[in-house]
Amino acid sequence: MSLRGIVMLGFFMATIVVSALQAEAKSKMQKQSFGKTEDGQQVDLYILTNHHGMEAAITNYGGTVVTLKVPDRNGKIDDVVLGYDRLDDYAAGKAYFGAIVGRYANRIAHAKFTLDGTTYTLPKNDGDNHLHGGFNKRVWTAKDVSSSNGKALELTYLSKDGEEGFPGNLSVKVVYTLSDQNELKIDYSATTDKDTVLNLTNHCYFNLAGQGSGDILQHQLMIRADRITPVDANLIPTGELRSVKGTPFDFTTSTAIGARIDQDDQQLKLGRGYDHNWVLNSGSAGSLSLAAQAYEPHSGRVLEVSTTQPGLQFYTGNFLDGIRGKQGKVYNRRYAFCLETQHFPDSPNHPDFPSTVLKPGQHFQSTTVYKFSTR
Ligand code: GLA
Repeated sequence: MSLRGIVMLGFFMATIVVSALQAEAKSKMQKQSFGKTEDGQQVDLYILTNHHGMEAAITNYGGTVVTLKVPDRNGKIDDVVLGYDRLDDYAAGKAYFGAIVGRYANRIAHAKFTLDGTTYTLPKNDGDNHLHGGFNKRVWTAKDVSSSNGKALELTYLSKDGEEGFPGNLSVKVVYTLSDQNELKIDYSATTDKDTVLNLTNHCYFNLAGQGSGDILQHQLMIRADRITPVDANLIPTGELRSVKGTPFDFTTSTAIGARIDQDDQQLKLGRGYDHNWVLNSGSAGSLSLAAQAYEPHSGRVLEVSTTQPGLQFYTGNFLDGIRGKQGKVYNRRYAFCLETQHFPDSPNHPDFPSTVLKPGQHFQSTTVYKFSTR
């Protein structure tokens, strides 16, 4: 081979090596430090990206979605979830911004339930109730499990027998996958070594116009549910499944969130707005079905929520009271909404509700997909 030939071949091979390295760097999930917890545990931030400019930054502190950057109808990218810039604020915060919530998401009345004849007592952290548990403030073990389906982050956590009063060592796994179809998919799974109860959800606060940009009252919302579980003064379900027909809770056709939120309605007054569980029409069959769709007219962003879960807590950020969040933004009342896919609140005390009991040998599995598009 001529000298020129050798040089050319060398150049060619170097190009292949460089592009292979670049491809690997691109396909690898980025990881950066998010700080240390008070007791010295290292916490990281994982950046999941896709081919459409969508980006999710998730920390293994609480499995929290810190930012979710999504294009609008003109391709402009905005962060559509509320949160904090710093780990310390998550540790001090009470709003559950973006977190994985458990062991029991939502309320358990009087912080007590009976299972197999034993009464378990939980911490009261919401008046007389137990609310949401503490998974949002735990450090989870993280692993990059990206594949051809997209960038994926696996988070695992062992909730020890007796933690917060719940029975059984519960091994929990949550996998976040960001697909090239602009879907953020969350797969939850769990096993236990003793009979226990569990309810897992994600607590993202959405504002499809961009986080901190104002209230969410003009978002149009559709929820595929004919009934809600009405609540008492402590936001505990009364046990009734009540039709939404003719009430401000009827979102069976797309309606502005603010259209009826201040109506003279007893349930709205109890929730200080919407803070209720909708009984999804898909039931508890466990197949992935569309639960809700939100549309923000100025950006054109659409969020579709699909789930295998039987319930959906629609919460309009009624307790946000001027929290200082990301990028110096201030979050006031109703600056975001949550669509928390879940089992019904207080199920352990309502034998008629779909069961939240998990037994040894059973494998709990649920999936929720947040899909973004524009129109
Ligand atoms: C849930 C509850 C609300 C509120 C928020 C967190 O969605 O239903 O009442 O506690 O979490 O602030």
